[in-house]
Amino acid sequence: MNTAQIEEKDPKAEALITQQFNAVTPENIMKAEIIHPQWDKYNFDLADKLVDYAKKHNMIVNAHNLIWHSQLPVFVRRMKDADSVRQYFVNHINTVASRYDGKVYSWDVVNEALNEDGTMRKSIFLEKLGDDFVVDAFRLAQKAAPHTKLYYNDYNIEQPKKRAGAIALIKKIQAAGVRIDGVGIQGHWHVDNVPMEDIEQSIKEFSALGIEVMFTELDLSVLPNPRGRSNSADISQTANYNAQINPYTKELPDSMQQKLATAYTDLFKLFLKYNDKISRVTFWGVNDGQSWLNGFPVPGRTNYPLLFDREFKPKPAFYKVIETKTKGSANKTF
Ligand code: G3I
Repeated sequence: MNTAQIEEKDPKAEALITQQFNAVTPENIMKAEIIHPQWDKYNFDLADKLVDYAKKHNMIVNAHNLIWHSQLPVFVRRMKDADSVRQYFVNHINTVASRYDGKVYSWDVVNEALNEDGTMRKSIFLEKLGDDFVVDAFRLAQKAAPHTKLYYNDYNIEQPKKRAGAIALIKKIQAAGVRIDGVGIQGHWHVDNVPMEDIEQSIKEFSALGIEVMFTELDLSVLPNPRGRSNSADISQTANYNAQINPYTKELPDSMQQKLATAYTDLFKLFLKYNDKISRVTFWGVNDGQSWLNGFPVPGRTNYPLLFDREFKPKPAFYKVIETKTKGSANKTF
């Protein structure tokens, strides 16, 4: 949910959300930049509102996220010494995670700590706190939020090398005797390039670690990818606008609607096959008009990555996804 939706300023969105979703996650408002803007100042208003909203509508909240290299507050980005970063890290996790313990269902404790080759991403946390910062984050979260599920979340971790890095990271957390309850595969893919075999292999390998597997930020771009065939959610990888790479400004042609519907059908068939291992599927946005993919990796385009169109109407892909549901297997009770 975006800010306008959390503030209940968008009645059409609200009608759809309460009708179609049983789990919500905030797109931005629980990120450090917004919830912890200054050293000694926290801004819990919107997060509190989301928690109340979810309670009112009988939904669970996955809180996103505690530790991420991106969207950090300015005061953290300016930090030079390790002690200050450590103090921020401890205070942030303790304060934010404990406030919402018992109120949110789960946290993305650490987001996007890995490079594509499975090594640790260079970040202020890696540089100042060292290799163990992920284990430390989970240890702190476990203490601050004993009643909350704790997850690692990343994109492209269905890919073999990055997956191996994620598995090593999860095993390291487990070997330290620290709790990790699940892994979120973000699922920012392209309609022409959904890596089905890698996804299936990932479900098997991650669930073999004894943890939940989730698809946490699902969307399928339909627009030409200026970066060739790579799927990536690395927000530093942008490209310039030109009309050729924005072909569907008025509407999505029927052939593309069908292509999207087929890709989603295949995915959800796979999800149903592993229904006992997959605990949640979350879309990154409510409808096409609100998707981050209208602005990334090229600004100002018209993308159609979700199940609901700009008028909040179900697209052909929505009906196809519903058709995949086999009796009794797709309903999750949290
Ligand atoms: O709210 C400000 C507004 O006040 C300002 O005028 C405007 C000018 O740029 O920016 C607004 O903030 C933007 C914010 O979204 C809210 O719309 C930021 O610039 C923009 O960078 C931010 O983008 C978000 C992005 O994360 C930032 O990293 C996207 O909405 C959000 O969908 C995206 O989500 C990430 C996940 O958290 C992690 N996985 C990848 C995923 C996609 O990048």
